Amino acid sequence: MPDPAAPPTPPAPAPAGRTPRRILVVGGGGRENALGWALARCGGVEAVWVSPGNGGTAELEGCHQLSVAETDHDGLLQACAEHAIELVVVGPEAPLAAGLADRLRGAGLAVFGPGADGALLEASKRWAKALMREAGIPTAGHWSATSAAEALVILEQQNRPLVVKADGLAAGKGVTVAESVAETRAAIEEAFAGRFGEAGTCLVLEERMSGPEVSVFALCDGERMVLLPPAQDHKRIGEGDTGPNTGGMGAYAPAPLLDAAALEAVRRQVLEPTLAALRQRGIDYRGVIYAGLMLTPEGPSVIEYNCRFGDPECETLMPLLGPELAAVLLACAEGCLEAAPSLTIAPHCSACVIAAAAGYPGTVRQGDPIEGRPAADQHRQLFHAGSRRDADDLCRTSGGRVLAMVAQADDFDTAFELAYDGLAQVHFEGMTFRRDIGHQVRQR
Ligand code: AMP
Ligand code: GLY
Repeated sequence: MPDPAAPPTPPAPAPAGRTPRRILVVGGGGRENALGWALARCGGVEAVWVSPGNGGTAELEGCHQLSVAETDHDGLLQACAEHAIELVVVGPEAPLAAGLADRLRGAGLAVFGPGADGALLEASKRWAKALMREAGIPTAGHWSATSAAEALVILEQQNRPLVVKADGLAAGKGVTVAESVAETRAAIEEAFAGRFGEAGTCLVLEERMSGPEVSVFALCDGERMVLLPPAQDHKRIGEGDTGPNTGGMGAYAPAPLLDAAALEAVRRQVLEPTLAALRQRGIDYRGVIYAGLMLTPEGPSVIEYNCRFGDPECETLMPLLGPELAAVLLACAEGCLEAAPSLTIAPHCSACVIAAAAGYPGTVRQGDPIEGRPAADQHRQLFHAGSRRDADDLCRTSGGRVLAMVAQADDFDTAFELAYDGLAQVHFEGMTFRRDIGHQVRQR
């Protein structure tokens, strides 16, 4: 059933370059919902399957849901054969780090997403820091340590608060930005006491930087890249950027923090050298490089890399991208970006607000019916994230971040008004959201 909240799909012309007719998106979050929605709108695309998807997937026009888990590499391979898939887009980092893209490519499929080697950009902070240091990419000074004793010696020498990071994937919870030496010490001790499991058996200690944060995404074909407009996420749970870190409570794009010239500088100083350093290591990186930047008084500096789209930045950006997206991702997967049509980017302001379940980012309430939906609007999308559709066809909450309400307009005030108006029309028990998303760019 088409989602009445989604804009009517204009018949987009098939762009020049090769367009994949059948696409599989792997993952089940808001990011994958938005990717499925955007790819299904591309001219020439016949259908998109999203696996395992979520409660909103089947409502997206042109999208179908599969129930194969992202960890089931054999099952996904089989699904590709069954549906004659011509492009696989892997959404989350865990299957990339586990080698899903390698496995599918090994079977001859075109995959947008790096292999396990390239995914180290996100899966090992220590590896990523070494790459940055060697390639001269601006980032905070750091030390790595494999025991508490070693880390504590570094802390004693530095005698100032440091940022403590688990080396491995820790679902966004592996970082402590310590305010004092005592807090740094406590974070080190906790990590080596097993707080992050395997991910915390090696720590990266970093100098603390300051400045606003911005996310930049490069779609890469191994050698070349296309940049998307910069986006700003809101990581804290509370208004005024207070409280614990979350996966992200809302975003907006394009973030005026980086104008066109500054974005070009980031391309030259950060993204192109990163791709070149990967190539030097023999890594053919075909997927997204997500640079999380801090705009310090000395200039942009890399906080971290991710090997996938940001969430909720992806939901925010997808509605701005043109119908060439599918052809561009296929060209990245095939290593021939120069033959792809250029990606058009709508000159609009896009606003995204996340509706989370009570308790998020801690233990959340689940199983509450999600009711209501905003009236259909060409410039507003409701993407599902932590939701599921039960046998009774009712959509219920099933995760921390439940919905992403996204809207576009000529200015940010109007875009956020539209997004908040949309949120006022949906409801689930305990629904919470920040009312100040985009405060940086709103006048009212
Ligand atoms: P990460 O998971 O590496 O993105 O870190 C989570 C958050 O911690 C970032 O979004 C920053 O707000 C903060 N952070 C990480 N590294 C630093 C640093 N070196 N200096 C200041 N803040 C940092
Ligand atoms: N929005 C932050 C992330 O996806 O890591």
